[in-house]
Amino acid sequence: DAAEELVERPSVVTIMGHVDHGKTTLLDSIRNTKVTEGEAGGITQHIGAYQVVENGKKITFLDTPGHAAFTTMRARGAKITDITILVVAADDGVMPQTIEAINHAKAAEVPIIVAVNKMDKEAANADRVMQELTEHGLVSEAWGGDTIFVPLSAKTGEGIDNLLEMILLVSEVEEYKANPNRNAVGTVIEAQLDKGRGSVATLLVQNGTLKIGDPIVVGNTYGRVRAMVNDKGRRVKEAGPSTPVEITGLNDVPQAGDRFVVFEDEKTARQIGEARAQVALVAHRGEKSIVSLDNLFE
Ligand code: GTP
Ligand code: NA
Ligand code: MG
Repeated sequence: DAAEELVERPSVVTIMGHVDHGKTTLLDSIRNTKVTEGEAGGITQHIGAYQVVENGKKITFLDTPGHAAFTTMRARGAKITDITILVVAADDGVMPQTIEAINHAKAAEVPIIVAVNKMDKEAANADRVMQELTEHGLVSEAWGGDTIFVPLSAKTGEGIDNLLEMILLVSEVEEYKANPNRNAVGTVIEAQLDKGRGSVATLLVQNGTLKIGDPIVVGNTYGRVRAMVNDKGRRVKEAGPSTPVEITGLNDVPQAGDRFVVFEDEKTARQIGEARAQVALVAHRGEKSIVSLDNLFE
């Protein structure tokens, strides 16, 4: 019974918000705090996706806006994130991209946790942020609503533990699950052509376990997983549910937001990959015909 194989998986958390409100600094801060607390140092963040461990539970973070994946996924009705962290600078308040981020999260039906950032600044005004967000349907628990607000400073690190606790709280309620004992499926976070390594794609494994040697179709590309590097820059042999991993071995460069599916044999993967690439070349023909990955995805 496939349902019985479902086990808990890390939550996937996307950081969104207006430009310069501190998304990347927040992620750096979370990562550095956790790195110095636990794992071996020397971590090079070369992808905007990584995992940390908080109270024994893994959390996967995705930075934006580098990631077109989120927008593309939304357009396709697919979902990569479990929780959105909406970063709002306390000295700047709600801005156009803040509202855009709220709309993204609402459309994807993803719970929002508000991180009121830059609380170390003199001009910080958390009440104003709460007031402004009320107008967009995000009412703080303190004001009788059900949105979690966490005042913090990505710069000093203050409040970050609270944020991580709130993420775990939401994760416990939602009980995110996946089956690690099946062929992997997931989504491209980003991809590029590397002079030495060829096509390099950062994938988020959403279900199953991705392994070295797996025959794979990624968007309109295909191949065998040749090498995998995790978010710590280390070579790994497999990647389970909710794990971001960088792979090589594809015949071409896929696009952010593309889905990937692992197949039993290389011949099938090649046939489907080639067919998808062919169809993509014919602009007026629907991609859905014979080679859609959508029905294979679930
Ligand atoms: P984009 O990716 O360009 O949208 O920006 P971002 O949201 O990732 O913001 P980023 O982390 O690049 O931070 C923007 C600026 O705000 C930088 O100069 C940071 O040092 C500063 N900053 C971020 N968080 C804090 C904070 O908590 N306090 C203070 N004082 N400055 C901060
Ligand atoms: Na910035
Ligand atoms: Mg940034």
